[in-house]
Amino acid sequence: TVEFFLLLCAAYLLGSVSFAVLLARLRHQPDPRSFGSRNPGASNMLRLGHRRLALATLIGDMGKGAVAVWLAAHMGLLPVQQAWVGLLAVIGHILPLYHRFHGGKGVATAAGVLLVLSWPAALIAGLVWLAIFTIRSIASLASLAACVALVPWMAWHSPELQIPVSLMVLIILLRHRLNIGRLLAGNENRFRF
Ligand code: G3P
Repeated sequence: TVEFFLLLCAAYLLGSVSFAVLLARLRHQPDPRSFGSRNPGASNMLRLGHRRLALATLIGDMGKGAVAVWLAAHMGLLPVQQAWVGLLAVIGHILPLYHRFHGGKGVATAAGVLLVLSWPAALIAGLVWLAIFTIRSIASLASLAACVALVPWMAWHSPELQIPVSLMVLIILLRHRLNIGRLLAGNENRFRF
């Protein structure tokens, strides 16, 4: 339908708003694409040493994913259509129109999407993320583990959403290829608090 198509476009445009870049600019901080992992995301904002800015980035990036899916649900779209809308928000974050397609890795945005789409799935992924991060202090490893845990969970509990959610996971995993390389080489960035 026309509504579905328009929402896909709106979700992409909304996802394209990079809160890391915007907040850094607003607070006169260095561009997150110029330091650390060079990723415009909450983890890299934390590397800057600004917990509040990192938290605000996390909330903003999660919020745009959540709002996109919430809008789709509010307009009466089917859950599977809501999941496609969520996927477009994640793609917007990764390949943003306003930032010459140099975006983030999509983890926080996907978390926001999941939160509205299926809160138990978001809870499981969130718990896996926290557990791995607590044990190893590596954000990318926690994100990869949460992504991997999500696939069987969705297959079992929400098989109708499996295609868009698996695609979302696949895109996020591909986006972490440099992190995977560093993890395998044993030199991925660890957080020290
Ligand atoms: O959420 C992004 C995280 O998985 C990795 O970020 O900055 O450590 O590459 P970064």
